[in-house]
Amino acid sequence: MISKVAVIGAGQMGGGIAQVYAASGIPTYLYDTRAEAVKKSIALSEKLLTKGVEKEKISKEDKTRTLANLIPVTELSALKDADLVVEAILEQLAPKQELFCKLDEVCSADTVFASNTSSISITKLAAATKNPERVIGLHFMNPVPVMKLVEIIRGLQTSDAVYERSKESVIKLGKTAVTARRDYPGFIVNRILVPMINEAFFVLMEGIASPEEIDDAMRLGTNQPMGPLALADFVGLDTCLAICRIFHNELGEDKYRPCPLMVKYVEAGWFGKKVGRGVYTYFQ
Ligand code: 3HC
Repeated sequence: MISKVAVIGAGQMGGGIAQVYAASGIPTYLYDTRAEAVKKSIALSEKLLTKGVEKEKISKEDKTRTLANLIPVTELSALKDADLVVEAILEQLAPKQELFCKLDEVCSADTVFASNTSSISITKLAAATKNPERVIGLHFMNPVPVMKLVEIIRGLQTSDAVYERSKESVIKLGKTAVTARRDYPGFIVNRILVPMINEAFFVLMEGIASPEEIDDAMRLGTNQPMGPLALADFVGLDTCLAICRIFHNELGEDKYRPCPLMVKYVEAGWFGKKVGRGVYTYFQ
């Protein structure tokens, strides 16, 4: 039974994950070392929930209850009674391993440690902790409150009990859980999605079509809600490139090589929507 959740990292993903757990009725800590980031994230949740009330998707009481369940925290020691911790910090191995090692000292022996990583090995993350059987991947999709899927990734060491408890918590969110039975780079969604995005950059680089034409082709021709280049801007080109590089290095096949045009955009700092410029330009 999961009766208290802690989400680590008050970025776009962490904030969304905390909001959906809080909305499911579970008291949820939102932890970040930066108090400002926690405050900003909860303010954004409030704005989204208010929109939900205005559109009559949720009641006023739902909004009030969700906000009351969101507990801002800036000290790791406060997370000691969490049954499930979901980390959504920087997409790098060392900081994630370091965090789980710290949490080993804070949390009880049966707290589940989940990572929202999009591409790092759960097995490798688990290996750095005292109790690797409790480590699992819970990969949420962006925007978290809207997307219906959570991928569950079993590391080599993940126990059946931890898997079952994690799955139960996802189902309680009203989302669908799909399990990656093996822990290979990109799991299911990104293994398929990111090479498609990369290929869209090759199509652009080769002058086959303009960004708008590529996105229209895929939106209208395959019923995707947004085209691959708009999606790259939405996810972040830096994130897409980092995932391409992991595929290329770890799967060792040339078909995963990052498109040079994507590399150039990232070198230029054109990371996408979050900085106002990617393949497209955004006015913020
Ligand atoms: N947070 C919460 N709600 C949001 C939101 C956000 N950031 N952005 C949009 N929404 C809500 C809107 O409020 C609206 O709600 P309503 O239906 O109750 O009115 C609904 O989503 C639709 O939004 P809009 O009408 O503004 O715009 P669209 O119809 O164009 O939808 C979209 C926007 C939901 C982002 C849609 O374009 C979409 O589904 N795009 C694809 C997203 C996707 O593929 N995500 C996965 C990325 S891969 C990933 O996350 C893995 C990672 O590891 C890389």
